[in-house]
Amino acid sequence: MNSATMWRIEPSGPLVGDVEISGSKNAVTKLMVASLLAEGPSTVDNAPRIGDVDITADMLRSVGAGVSVDGSTVIVDPAAGLEGKVPVTYSGLNRVPILLVGPLLHRVGEVSVPVVGGDRIGTRPINFHVEALRALGAEIRVTDEGLEAKAARLHGARVRLPFPSVGATETVLLTASLAEGRTVLENAAIEPEVVELALFLQRMGARIELRPDRQFVIEGVSRLRGAHQRLGGDRIEAFSYLAAGLATRGSVRIIGCAQDRLVTAITTLQRMGARFEITDETIAASADGLLGPAAVSTRPHPGFMTDWQAPLVVLFTQVAGMSVLHETVFEDRLSYLAALRAMGAQIELFDQCLVGEACRFHQGEWLHSAVVRGGCPMEGTEMDMPDIRGAFAYVIAAAVGTSPSVVHGVRYLERGYDRVFEKFSSLGLRISEIH
Ligand code: UD1
Repeated sequence: MNSATMWRIEPSGPLVGDVEISGSKNAVTKLMVASLLAEGPSTVDNAPRIGDVDITADMLRSVGAGVSVDGSTVIVDPAAGLEGKVPVTYSGLNRVPILLVGPLLHRVGEVSVPVVGGDRIGTRPINFHVEALRALGAEIRVTDEGLEAKAARLHGARVRLPFPSVGATETVLLTASLAEGRTVLENAAIEPEVVELALFLQRMGARIELRPDRQFVIEGVSRLRGAHQRLGGDRIEAFSYLAAGLATRGSVRIIGCAQDRLVTAITTLQRMGARFEITDETIAASADGLLGPAAVSTRPHPGFMTDWQAPLVVLFTQVAGMSVLHETVFEDRLSYLAALRAMGAQIELFDQCLVGEACRFHQGEWLHSAVVRGGCPMEGTEMDMPDIRGAFAYVIAAAVGTSPSVVHGVRYLERGYDRVFEKFSSLGLRISEIH
């Protein structure tokens, strides 16, 4: 993995070429956690080489699992002697600690995990996880350091999530698979990465049914075996490079991310005037002349994904006309726009819900809608990367600038994007690493 802390990026004209898409970041760590439920080792192939995999591997080792990461193959052996305490050194690094609670309760009965982290894109509470775990029979105490849980025996329950949370759905799938009896989960997240976890659990021997209307039904089983799965392509990485190609008036062809993971993204870009060539293996996006504007509201799957919005907004700065973005999944996911404004982008932020129906944040003061004027020149600047998705957006912004930029905090990019330096360089972006 790259060890530079900063990049100097020179605008290098249209980005053109092929990008091999890696396995999905948002699935890999969940399959690693699920592996703890089995009686033998599991193998995940096509794993992305990203910081989050290394952090999760260390976290699993800290509770006694054997983990090997060899290129894009990850093997997790839950061994015989797991323990239930995840050290506080893993506090604040990613969202995995809360997902470990259910599996470790099954294996050890008593668990303590540190405060979960991840990108600062909202308050990101864990109340849905805690309520679901309690319904499934866990005794939970939330402390300043994290969460302590105990359970003599976990059992099935009927759980309804207040919002289709990806993480809380995963907590329920991971916990209910070995619980006694039937769990019905309503208003579940059905993101492709959630389904990928469900399929992995099914390979391990779990009985999981996905019903219409966001409902999972899980019949608990008494044991699970190790499984082998190849991860699907990362739809966030795929969209990000397609947007980078279009924003620089180039053309990127992605390889290894199935079309069905990108349906809403492709439709959105088509409506803006992008031209697509799609085969079973590849998706290429290009444009004749300037793209038009769009009005987009982020939504849980199958809607327009919240992680696609940062590259999309940079693309909005390069189209003909005014575009609007309404972020409805995370309340504080637009703070990265300050740097684009400093470059000269004309973006106004609003606390109202500007596209589609009112969202959960309509009465708060969160600036969660943006109006973006396309076509304003953006000068290069120095930027601190704010979070994984904002970080990628800054690289695209630097690529469309009128002068070079320096971006700090490359570790954010490396936490979520596999070999990002190499992939951008192969598209023709001139990046120098600053150590
Ligand atoms: C995951 C993804 C992230 C993606 C997000 C939505 C990973 C590692 N991250 O994050 O890239 O943007 O799904 O697709 O997979 N909420 C609560 N209480 C809870 C849990 C969630 O209020 O206990 C709220 C959140 O604050 C947020 C919304 O529900 O407003 C959605 O969050 P969630 O789907 O849980 O996101 P993550 O699983 O953290």
